[in-house]
Amino acid sequence: MAEQHAHPATDQNGAAPDGIPDYPFERPSALEPCPHYARMRQQEPVGQVRMPSGDLAHLVTSYEDVRTVLSDPRFSRQATTRPGAPRLGPAPQNFPSLLNMDAPEHTRVRKLVSREFTTRRVNELRPRIQEHTDRLLDAMEEAGPPTDLIAALAFPLPVTIICELLGVPFEDRERFAGWSAAFLATAGLPAEQVLASQIVLHGYLSGLVADKRTQPGTDLLSALVAIHDTDDGRLSEQELIFLGISMLVAGHETTVNQIGNSVLALLTHPEQLAAVRRAPEQIGRATEEMLRMYPPGDEGLLRIALEDVELGGTVVPAGSAVLPSLGSANRDVCQFADADTFDVSRSSNPHLSFGQGAHYCLGSGLARAELEIAIGTLLNRFPELRLAVPKEELPRPSGRLVHGVSQLPVTW
Ligand code: HEM
Repeated sequence: MAEQHAHPATDQNGAAPDGIPDYPFERPSALEPCPHYARMRQQEPVGQVRMPSGDLAHLVTSYEDVRTVLSDPRFSRQATTRPGAPRLGPAPQNFPSLLNMDAPEHTRVRKLVSREFTTRRVNELRPRIQEHTDRLLDAMEEAGPPTDLIAALAFPLPVTIICELLGVPFEDRERFAGWSAAFLATAGLPAEQVLASQIVLHGYLSGLVADKRTQPGTDLLSALVAIHDTDDGRLSEQELIFLGISMLVAGHETTVNQIGNSVLALLTHPEQLAAVRRAPEQIGRATEEMLRMYPPGDEGLLRIALEDVELGGTVVPAGSAVLPSLGSANRDVCQFADADTFDVSRSSNPHLSFGQGAHYCLGSGLARAELEIAIGTLLNRFPELRLAVPKEELPRPSGRLVHGVSQLPVTW
């Protein structure tokens, strides 16, 4: 466990007396990035920040350098799990999941999972995503306006789909959703509480893996239990359990916030909303633009430099922490024309919101299907959908690493 550093008092610009700014930067509003990123891309593309843990990191802001950090093996995820390694938040996240592995271990496990978590499996889930979306929107319509869209759709949909994916039995779903909410509501909670929710979920998934062994279904977890890797043996018990947990961690809050941010972006950009309504068959392209402009968090996962690496004109010394800012890369004018303009008809859109390289989001196909179905169906069923409060009054969590409104009151 890394030591907590004393946190020097900050001035009104968020910089401590040593001149190192606190991260995450304060956002002007839920959808606007801090202007500090644009300044950094121009003047100091790799600069030091102080993370919520008190540890320092090199924040990387240009498209090209962010791509390098995500795909160059000299930047390690595994090294972040070593005792005493710098970390982002208050609690260590050092469980043995895909996200925390480097090659060759990562390559082996990822290959095994990818063999089962295929486009076909996502396509098979599409009708279920549609059914759950319809059911949630039926309930919303029945209750009548106004409603909180996060509680009505954005929050329950992703966890239900992860239950489908993993084959969580119907009767356990409510409990599972409750634990995962506790597990994910970890920002600002003491490390002991985070650990306690990790233990409950770990216990449940161990039981689920055992059940799939005796009574396999058609779900992903059963398929993974059945995998036999001829070179390296089966996926270990712990790898299986942590795969389940990683899908929950990586796939729930991200999707919740992406649905919320996307709907908020459309409702506050009437001309873009009208364009999506005019061409519903282009929902895929619009979704990519919402991912580029309004991703659920600014940064990818923290890496540790394994050797001295030259990046953006700076030498990042071996052992230091590196934070790739996906949100900043997505608005780099060197890569995107009119980078700060929200344009749902943008055709070339190589955004980095799902990462890049070895750890590229394993659930990107599923997330895209959820976003397209949820947003497309919502717009179709509620032609008069609009915000129920002025956008300045929307509540949002402050000082959080994941961006998104905690409530989205809408009416129709
Ligand atoms: C809008 C929704 C989502 C976004 C924006 C997102 C974003 C990301 C990003 C940026 C990474 C790479 C992090 C890095 O390299 O620093 C990642 C990895 C990952 N994501 Fe997603 N994700 C989403 C939804 C999902 C879903 C629905 C699932 C699964 C059910 C999922 C499973 C994973 C897994 C397992 C990894 C780790 C892959 C590896 O380490 O090889 N994600 N995601």
